[in-house]
Amino acid sequence: MPDCLLALESSCDETAAAVCTLEGELISSRIATQIAIHRQYGGVVPEVASRNHILHVRLLVEEVLAEAGQTPRDMAAFAATSGPGLVSSLLIGTSMAKALAIAESKPFIAVNHMEGHLLSPFMSGNGPVRPCVALIVSGGHTMLVRVHGVGRYELLGRTRDDAAGEAFDKVAKMVGLHYPGGPEIDKLSTRGDPKAFDFPRSFLDGRSLEFSFSGLKTAVLYELPRLDLKNEQVLADLSASVQAAIVEVLVEKLVLAARQCGEKLVTVSGGVSCNKGLRAALSARCAKAGLQLLLARPDLCTDNAGMIGFAAAQRFSTGHTSPLEADVDPNLPL
Ligand code: KG4
Ligand code: ZN
Repeated sequence: MPDCLLALESSCDETAAAVCTLEGELISSRIATQIAIHRQYGGVVPEVASRNHILHVRLLVEEVLAEAGQTPRDMAAFAATSGPGLVSSLLIGTSMAKALAIAESKPFIAVNHMEGHLLSPFMSGNGPVRPCVALIVSGGHTMLVRVHGVGRYELLGRTRDDAAGEAFDKVAKMVGLHYPGGPEIDKLSTRGDPKAFDFPRSFLDGRSLEFSFSGLKTAVLYELPRLDLKNEQVLADLSASVQAAIVEVLVEKLVLAARQCGEKLVTVSGGVSCNKGLRAALSARCAKAGLQLLLARPDLCTDNAGMIGFAAAQRFSTGHTSPLEADVDPNLPL
């Protein structure tokens, strides 16, 4: 077995652990999801999330190590997400990784959650990491980033209000769908007409790489009194139209960013990149625009520790480690 590292992710409501090689190859990975717990509150409750991280983290570490046929002593380093995210959640993963690093006298590596998402399209044999324009679309962030290399990132644009995942989730909540709403809207959209409602596409001005999704939310709110949401076809049409509006903006801004940068490789990652409509539209539009597209594998789109291990391995290979005093940061910038 080549040298490996253990990675932990606990920035929000998923507790996750993974073992990967120092080249970033994923050996074992587990996620304990808390979706069913937070669903009853309609969103993530921070204190409930951190208490559940505590319950799951040790077991997950034992499981991924056992599956990899390894012990803590075999690990070359211990990594964990240190931000951005919920402070009380971040503290669980980082405390565990630091404790293991101290016990085994091995380095600790603090990983930026957004770098985990950003680099995830280069996993599963798509490496090495190379220059590209990256779109990250998650529950908390929507960003266009120019990647010059590992650790060399230039922010091109981001959302001025809601993130794309947040727009999916808020609209879904307004029409009575379960949290998280993105996958629900994705499913319903396959049976709906994307042209049934003409929702706004906020392109701001023609050259802007910033996003805004709050107008879409308001447009749906104004439409609601006229709709019979108990009618499944109406709900499906509304879902398909909302999804079409979000997808069109994401796809067109990514193509615009690639053109402005003169970049031929584009990547897309984060929870929203699971969306089937988005994946299909990206493939078609990038082929038409002559762009090479790398999408994160569906199981690596939403929060997982594999992507944290991959990012840690990229940093570790250049000699980077973090001090044990390194603090968590809920607003850690990329
Ligand atoms: O990356 P992620 O797991 O967590 C954050 O870092 O935020 O993203 C979660 C977000 C949620 O807003 C969820 O609704 C959205 O990703 N999402 C989707 C889909 N699957 C997850 N949005 C649209 N379609 C999906 N299939
Ligand atoms: Zn995430």
